[in-house]
Amino acid sequence: MTGQNTEKQILAMVVLLVISVAALGAYTWFDNGRRTEAASEVFERDSERGAHIFARNCRVCHGNDGAGRESNSTLVGPALNTPSNTFAWRTENAGQLESLQNRYRFTIACGRNGTPMPPWALTQGGSLDDFKIDNLVTLITTNAGNAWEIAVEAAIHEDELAIGNLEIALHGAERLLEAGGWSADLEAAQAAVNAAEADDAQLALLRRALADALAEADALAEAGASDEEIADAESAVENAGTALDNYERSYTRLVLDAIEVATGDPEQDKEQIAEARSRLNEAGGVLRTVAEQRAWLKVATDLATAHSNLDEAEERFAIGLPIMLPPAQVTASTCGQLQQYHQFGTAETLTAATEGDQLGGWLDSLDTDDS
Ligand code: HEC
Repeated sequence: MTGQNTEKQILAMVVLLVISVAALGAYTWFDNGRRTEAASEVFERDSERGAHIFARNCRVCHGNDGAGRESNSTLVGPALNTPSNTFAWRTENAGQLESLQNRYRFTIACGRNGTPMPPWALTQGGSLDDFKIDNLVTLITTNAGNAWEIAVEAAIHEDELAIGNLEIALHGAERLLEAGGWSADLEAAQAAVNAAEADDAQLALLRRALADALAEADALAEAGASDEEIADAESAVENAGTALDNYERSYTRLVLDAIEVATGDPEQDKEQIAEARSRLNEAGGVLRTVAEQRAWLKVATDLATAHSNLDEAEERFAIGLPIMLPPAQVTASTCGQLQQYHQFGTAETLTAATEGDQLGGWLDSLDTDDS
């Protein structure tokens, strides 16, 4: 009896033990799944945020979808949406993922010296804080939640807004042209400016000659010069006046006045001389014409530019390229990267050559900052 009971008890205990081990195993398995799922959700959220940050800051060089210069030669940045960038995450190789993420965190924060890739960390004069940079890193190294598609949607949205603004600029230029009563003919506008400027230059010369002759006559009159001298001055003024008159009929009266004044009684005519002078100065109608023609040329040029900006934007938009063109400048040394960093060319060389060391240094510096 006792023996049998003991055997039953042992059996029951073994069964219980087996059940609890199985339950523990099942729970561990279940919990792991839950954890992975939770981690996935975090990645997705970060990655989606990264997609929006990417659309605002990075796509001009790396393309709307991150496919970079490999997809279109007008882009300067390399492809970021590659299977190799998400490989570690897909294969759940945590160590490899972490090292890739550290590498890209460094690249984004510090830029790549000697290439157009700029530094983005606030400490390096950039515009992104560590959290945003992390989101970008998650996007690039996981594409969790297919976030590259979200980046494309965000790009389309931004570019639609940009096109809207370019249309507004175009309408503004059109309205200005209309208000001035001008045509959009750029060549005509340019020719009008040239003609007006030539007129202006020529008239300035003729006016100057007349003014000089007047001054001479004035001085002689003041000095009470002889009839002969006055006659010489008179003919000089007349010649200058005729030249001006020939060039621009509207100056005839002015010229005649000037001649009359210069040959009149020097004592009595001082007032008239002063008046002739002031009229000479006021005869600035041509200057106004020049200003008007220049305004026309400017408005016509602005309109042409607005047209071509919109055309170019629409063309790029149609083939999925970011509307803005990338800035061409090359970044300077950041996070202490060596100047010769990039003489060797490809991204591969630099990883091995310097990025590893410098990443360590940069991460250390972050640690120090924190403490
Ligand atoms: C002005 C153009 C430009 C902008 C803007 C730009 N990049 Fe880059 N990026 C580059 C270039 C060029 C390279 C390649 C550098 C090199 O030759 O190693 C690069 C390289 C990279 C790399 C390394 C890729 C690899 O395979 O090693 C990453 C990651 C990267 N950029 C992310 C970003 C992110 C994220 C942003 C936005 C915050 C951004 N870039 C904005 C031009 C740019």
